[in-house]
Amino acid sequence: MKKKMFVIASVFVMAGTLTLAYAADVDKGKALFASPTLGGGTTGKSCMTCHDGGDGLGDDLFDRKSYTIMGMEKNSVEEIVNVCIEKPLGGVAIDPAGEEMSDLIAYMKTLVAK
Ligand code: HEC
Repeated sequence: MKKKMFVIASVFVMAGTLTLAYAADVDKGKALFASPTLGGGTTGKSCMTCHDGGDGLGDDLFDRKSYTIMGMEKNSVEEIVNVCIEKPLGGVAIDPAGEEMSDLIAYMKTLVAK
């Protein structure tokens, strides 16, 4: 009986966590992708300047185990995004687990082939 109660309680806790998780917003991601001030960018460039419509983003972007960008080894798309924020945008890396990153990733997923 105790075990059953524990299982039921766990399911509620999990459901609660899922509800609290941030739901990424593709439209906001699109706006961030076009924004030269993402990450406090200073060069006047946005992601769109170089990756309009997904230019330069590999179709397998979200399926790779590791990434190389500008000669650096990276483990996730989030880290790659931050390299592009720091270098071409001249900004400061954003929180890899934050809402802006989730929105950007959600939008980029619409740009690459499934
Ligand atoms: C001035 C042009 C420029 C801008 C602006 C730029 N990037 Fe990039 N981006 C590049 C180049 C060049 C590469 C490829 C570098 C390499 O392969 O070493 C790249 C690579 C990438 C990749 C990896 C693509 C792949 O398939 O491996 C992602 C993801 C990416 N950029 C996202 C972004 C995001 C998000 C932004 C906006 C914050 C952005 N980029 C802004 C030039 C740019």
